[in-house]
Amino acid sequence: MYTEKVMDHFSNPRNVGEIENANGVGEVGNASCGDIMKIYLQVEGDIIKDVKFKTFGCGAAIATSSMVTELAIGKTLDEALVLTNQAVAEALDGLPPAKMHCSNLAADALHEAIKDYKAKNS
Ligand code: FES
Repeated sequence: MYTEKVMDHFSNPRNVGEIENANGVGEVGNASCGDIMKIYLQVEGDIIKDVKFKTFGCGAAIATSSMVTELAIGKTLDEALVLTNQAVAEALDGLPPAKMHCSNLAADALHEAIKDYKAKNS
């Protein structure tokens, strides 16, 4: 049912935790299942130097959180802003159709964190 990449990121999630003194934080929730994802950014100049996440959610939500952190690190803010939930799911070699809604949290939380950073630093 799940791809090897999903199982890998679920079993060994990358970049779990918080960033002390994060300069951008984003949180989104899924109203239907109640899951919550929080993303912390450390931005220097225009580059995302570090990303960490905390997710209270299903395995697919944890795997997509983990993948979005890997995709975002090293990107410029504008590059990260165009990362889509679909791109995160594709980077995991896909999700079962019933779990696609879980991937909707990942890029959204990242985008919220970037917006938070921009609001605080404009
Ligand atoms: Fe809630 Fe997957 S069931 S995000």
